[in-house]
Amino acid sequence: MLTIEKKTAVETYIAEKIEKRDTGEPICAYVYDLDYLENHAEKIKQSLPPFCRLYYAVKANPEKPILETLEPIVDGFEVASYGEMQKVSGLTEKAMLFGGPGKKDKEIASALESNVDYLNVESFHELNRMIYIAEQKGVKIPVLLRVNLKDNVSDSHIRMSGVPTQFGVDERDIPVILLEALASPHIEVKGFHFHAMSNNLDAQAHLQFIGTCIEKSLAWQNEFGMEAPIVNVGGGIGINYLNPDQPFEWEVLAKGLEDFYHIYQHQSLTLFLEIGRYMTAECGSYVTEVLDVKTNHGEHFAVIRGGSHHLRLPAAWKMSHPFHVHSIDEWRYPFERPGIFDEAVTVAGELCTPNDVLVRKENVKELRAGDVMIFRFAGAYGWTISHHDFLSHPHPEHIFVKKD
Ligand SMILES: Cc1ncc(COP(=O)(O)O)c(C=O)c1O
Repeated sequence: MLTIEKKTAVETYIAEKIEKRDTGEPICAYVYDLDYLENHAEKIKQSLPPFCRLYYAVKANPEKPILETLEPIVDGFEVASYGEMQKVSGLTEKAMLFGGPGKKDKEIASALESNVDYLNVESFHELNRMIYIAEQKGVKIPVLLRVNLKDNVSDSHIRMSGVPTQFGVDERDIPVILLEALASPHIEVKGFHFHAMSNNLDAQAHLQFIGTCIEKSLAWQNEFGMEAPIVNVGGGIGINYLNPDQPFEWEVLAKGLEDFYHIYQHQSLTLFLEIGRYMTAECGSYVTEVLDVKTNHGEHFAVIRGGSHHLRLPAAWKMSHPFHVHSIDEWRYPFERPGIFDEAVTVAGELCTPNDVLVRKENVKELRAGDVMIFRFAGAYGWTISHHDFLSHPHPEHIFVKKD
């Protein structure tokens, strides 16, 4: 891990690179501010009422320094593959929750041998496979039944529940699967799992969703004589990429959870949150140098070192990723520097496809070849969801900055 003294982590990184640069290799890096991450995670954790448990959804960013920074703060980790399980069990004994719609028998068996506390059941067939594996091993598997709610609960553009998807068990079938699970000597039903959406920006809507999850869980507890349930509401807290000045109102969510705590205190239920995007998005920036600026068909384009093979999110969501320009005065060629001033620009990457676009027709005051673009909110679903090796360009640097 490279340790740099802080201005902001990103500015210091760029200054050092420019100063030391002698190869002409353009700047291209993910820069993570681990102090920011630690602080942010602490604030999230401290804002939660006592009936909440905070898990980090590893898929958002599984880099080791990220997991190590979060480890002392969170109650555990949500994992969705054997690979993620290995990453977590290699560094902590804290609990894991194992989810995902396509669990392999080997993964289920590995979960039983590691510090996985609960496995999500995503279907009837998966329940049968778990019973079969547990019988062979002579164990009992603690599970949360993943519910695909019958009614829509979100306006988010990515939904896993309340609409037809591959996730969970249709709410209308929950009584049937519950009876089957409760009848098995090899399954302990500990509660329900409801992860339903991605990038929700509306705290009130999220509270309403959580209220629905609690009410449904308590109704099933009552009807089937279960113990006080775990109600896992998943993640889904959003980052406002299109309008960063209006972030998700975490305080509103925290206050609403506090209210739920007082309302449901006597029910002794436990509420699990599995936060990914909201936990790590902001601690990471993707920092890349502008290679070229040009005009085609009357529209301006900047081409950067890197692109969607490093940061796929804006291409996947067909959006402009929030950015700012870090001006670099140095210009190393003996000829004119291309640039635009007070114009709209589309920022494309170095790949040979018109889909390699990170910014679509956004205004810039000044953008020249040799300037550096800083893409915020790149710490979640950034590098990890990107197709790194398309065109075999070198990978970006990965810099983890911590004060000491
Ligand atoms: C089961 C489950 N839990 C939690 C998360 C984390 O969601 P987010 O990053 O939106 O907080 C995901 C993300 O896909 C998930 O599938």
